[in-house]
Amino acid sequence: MQPEINTKEFNSKIINEIKKRRTFAIISHPDAGKTTLTEKFLLFGGAIQTAGAVKSNKIKKHATSDFMDIERQRGISVATSVMSFEYKNILVNLLDTPGHKDFAEDTYRTLTAVDSVVLVIDSVKGVEEQTKRLMEVCRMRDTPVIVFVNKLDRDGKNPFDLLDEIESELNIQLHPLSWPIGMGKEFKGVYNLFEKSLLLFNPNQKTTEEDVPIENINDEIVEQKLGAKDANRLREDVELIEGVYEEFDPQPYLEGKIAPVFFGSAINNFGVKELLETFIQIAPLPQERAVTTRVVEPDENKFSGFVFKIHANLDPRHRDRIAFLRVCAGKFERNKYFHHVRLDKNVRFSNPYTFLARDKDIIESAYPGDVVGLFDTGNFKIGDTLTEGEDFYFTGIPSFSPEIFKEVVNKDPMKTKQLEKGLLQLTDEGVAQLFTQFGGNKKIIGCVGELQFEVIQYRLLHEYGASVQLNSLPYYKACWITSKDPKKLEEFIKFKSGNIAKDKDGLLVYLAQSEWFLNTERTNNPDIEFHFTSEIHK
Ligand code: G4P
Repeated sequence: MQPEINTKEFNSKIINEIKKRRTFAIISHPDAGKTTLTEKFLLFGGAIQTAGAVKSNKIKKHATSDFMDIERQRGISVATSVMSFEYKNILVNLLDTPGHKDFAEDTYRTLTAVDSVVLVIDSVKGVEEQTKRLMEVCRMRDTPVIVFVNKLDRDGKNPFDLLDEIESELNIQLHPLSWPIGMGKEFKGVYNLFEKSLLLFNPNQKTTEEDVPIENINDEIVEQKLGAKDANRLREDVELIEGVYEEFDPQPYLEGKIAPVFFGSAINNFGVKELLETFIQIAPLPQERAVTTRVVEPDENKFSGFVFKIHANLDPRHRDRIAFLRVCAGKFERNKYFHHVRLDKNVRFSNPYTFLARDKDIIESAYPGDVVGLFDTGNFKIGDTLTEGEDFYFTGIPSFSPEIFKEVVNKDPMKTKQLEKGLLQLTDEGVAQLFTQFGGNKKIIGCVGELQFEVIQYRLLHEYGASVQLNSLPYYKACWITSKDPKKLEEFIKFKSGNIAKDKDGLLVYLAQSEWFLNTERTNNPDIEFHFTSEIHK
């Protein structure tokens, strides 16, 4: 018999654990400085001792199509998928997102498991393609965002122009909490608008920053430190900023309406500590989450969590998969039976592991905000929920429209069964999405990047013995279609049957050849709604 749980004691323990945790991701367009910033955070947290430790695990961004090489590196990167460290008594869970754009969907899904993000922008390049898409995903859940404008040691865009650009391109209101003084060779440091202090950059002593508290921006000390020209420009800038922005209020940030902005240079470890310090002060604790039946609070007595990522090991000697589970409520315990909602069966884990950098090891328990790695032999798919008995699914875990589509042609009819199984399992892992032509049997796979097709072809052959040819299809997006008027939907499907397919859950999609075709269909069929995402559970 289970010992009687003292609910009150349990609750206060859990609330303390929740208060300690911050779970977030750093996101950026490739090359903006995500890896460098991650590394500096880890150095502050004492999780790594030397610079370069993260970098060596990184997937080469410019890798050509040698996906085995990338997979090998991905294998290594499992260890750094979640990096946990303590800073000033706060347990920070930093979820890594792949830099390679072909793995973008992995990144999008990881964003469902965090409570906030830090978005890195290159001050020279400004808002880039991937920045926009990542922000769109953050907007879907109103995820709180802190912006870090990086590479101030290079001649970048004017900071006011940059703020305008970010606001208009990313459709979010900003609130600068620090302000740069000069740029490139003239970069002198930043003025911390929040703490009212000058942080001076010394290019010759890269790691040391001088922090000068300023009571009044008109004080003589500002001249002494910056020289008359820069001091005057800073005063003008600050006057302008203070005229535009009111005192910083964390509430709209927590609601995802306003993004605080910091300026710095990750490679020089400049402005990073200020970012981290503010982050642990204002970033949200593990949040409540909507499920299909209600809202789950993190401090509930009963455990629940969901799988947001599955990582398959390509090494034939270790054919296990690792399912990444975000703990959302209660306490996860090793060897305790939990309810796997989709399979309606009880499962327990004898070797769950955590990602504490000091101690990358088997864990006994985990709390809301934590990510647990579960060895899996094929029981999990993305979006699966574990509970202590209650039946529900976490919502807000979307599938995104793929961008490249290929028809699967079976080259070995003797292996049809293996092929079907392989396709189902690989798509469960989230490697790709599977569609079946409407009224037919043609199998179509859709991915975000070319690399994924190579992964699929290789894995189908090596893991399932199924040999396939993948023929390109001329589609640009798959839109999930719905309508309030079932008759209209039926007519549309009939009329456009060549472009209609069903996803794995039987939901209808319209495969559009181009944006023009999609817009035309939108205009011609006002009763049909076209969606670029579909929720795994609603
Ligand atoms: P990513 O993960 O977002 O793709 O970016 P990453 O940190 O790898 O940084 C991309 C490049 O930008 C790296 O140079 C890195 O050293 C550089 N970088 C990062 N922060 C700063 C900064 O504050 N100032 C300047 N000037 N450069 C910065 P690389 O040449 O691509 O790689 P490496 O040879 O330095 O490893």
